[in-house]
Amino acid sequence: MNYDIVVVGSGFFGLTIAERCANELGLKVLVIDKRDHIGGNAYSETDPVTGIEVHTYGAHLFHTSNERVWRYVNRFTSFTPYVHHVYTTHDGVVYPMPINLGTINQFFHASYTPDEARALIAEQAGELAGQDPQNLNDKGISLIGRPLYEAFIKDYTGKQWQTDPKDLPASVISRLPVRYTYDNRYFNDTYEGLPTHGYTAWLETMVDSPDIDVLLSTDFFDESQPYHRAALVGRVPIVYTGPIDRYFDYSAGALAWRTIDFTTEYPETGDFQGTAVMNYPDLDRDYTRIIEPRHFHPERDYPADKTVIMKEYSRFAEEGDEPYYPVGTPEDRRRLLAYRDLAAREEGVVFGGRLGTYQYLDMHAAIGSALSVVDNVIVPHVRDGVPFD
Ligand code: FAD
Ligand code: NA
Repeated sequence: MNYDIVVVGSGFFGLTIAERCANELGLKVLVIDKRDHIGGNAYSETDPVTGIEVHTYGAHLFHTSNERVWRYVNRFTSFTPYVHHVYTTHDGVVYPMPINLGTINQFFHASYTPDEARALIAEQAGELAGQDPQNLNDKGISLIGRPLYEAFIKDYTGKQWQTDPKDLPASVISRLPVRYTYDNRYFNDTYEGLPTHGYTAWLETMVDSPDIDVLLSTDFFDESQPYHRAALVGRVPIVYTGPIDRYFDYSAGALAWRTIDFTTEYPETGDFQGTAVMNYPDLDRDYTRIIEPRHFHPERDYPADKTVIMKEYSRFAEEGDEPYYPVGTPEDRRRLLAYRDLAAREEGVVFGGRLGTYQYLDMHAAIGSALSVVDNVIVPHVRDGVPFD
């Protein structure tokens, strides 16, 4: 074995581990990925028709309040001043999201002050006062009142889950933020922006080291290729960022995920919707939102007469689908505990990232979590011989 460590999966979690091991710890690193490109879900490519950068696995907005992560990512890319905003089309009218004073005044055709709006929403949210919400529908009403819930949340959530919110557990939402100002900036983080030269240039810079080899189209469970599970486990430290249930051959059952189907269209205009993300919360359309990626980079010289859009359709993932968002039923949580137990006992293998831990992780969270694994597991192993598990 010519490698000091093997990383399975080249998403932000795996690449952060690989980069630190090579450039900070001087290790020889092998990264394998079953896809034919690096970057996991953050990968982007140039649309062949328009030349516009498209996010292949769904729109990715970088944002963080973590100083360490922000300093770290700036070693590989600069960021544009892009600030994310989302709009929503309900009943033929466009409103700003998340729900803010602008949304409220437009919806009620009013000019409420912050205090008046707060009092109104509190009164409407009191409809089910004293009752413990039994499902997502009651929970939504008790958080923001029936009118706003039914307009902007109910059917949108129903489409996301392909399930009537009355049949979804209240735990699917813990809070519905309402802002009593006109601020409709989508993220609240200190830092925000898009990588100036695109995600793929950023990801490639991370592995640009003579001490990192990358093998693409290589599945860790494919025993016909040399770097598979049975050949490696116990012989070399492994950081595994693929699905945790797959690693253990689904012995405790498959963990459930939601996936998204994207359709790409080329409307005959240079600007289809005037903004990057338009939500469609109503049942008259079966997609949940439309992304128009040209608006992520207004600073770029994109063609003025062409554009590309993606419609997003949400559904439960089946075998072979891309796992995007953990479902997280009580059954899933029981299975996850069983897998965590097995993972803790699997010597020489550390499980990380969104698939390896079965949790939704934003990019900054995946990167921050990988930096912690370097600090807490890999450095003690390399410097002091602490077991790698
Ligand atoms: P991934 O990026 O999923 O990487 C895992 C890699 O492991 C994949 O490349 C996969 O091919 C590989 N792999 C799996 N199994 C095997 C195997 N058997 N053998 C070899 N390789 C294998 N984050 C944000 O900060 N902002 C956003 O706006 C945002 N939007 C998102 C939208 C969607 C639809 C999704 C799904 C995620 C979004 N994220 C966003 C999250 C972001 O994609 C994650 O931070 C990132 O995916 C986490 O990186 P990861 O390395 O843990 O996982
Ligand atoms: Na382990």
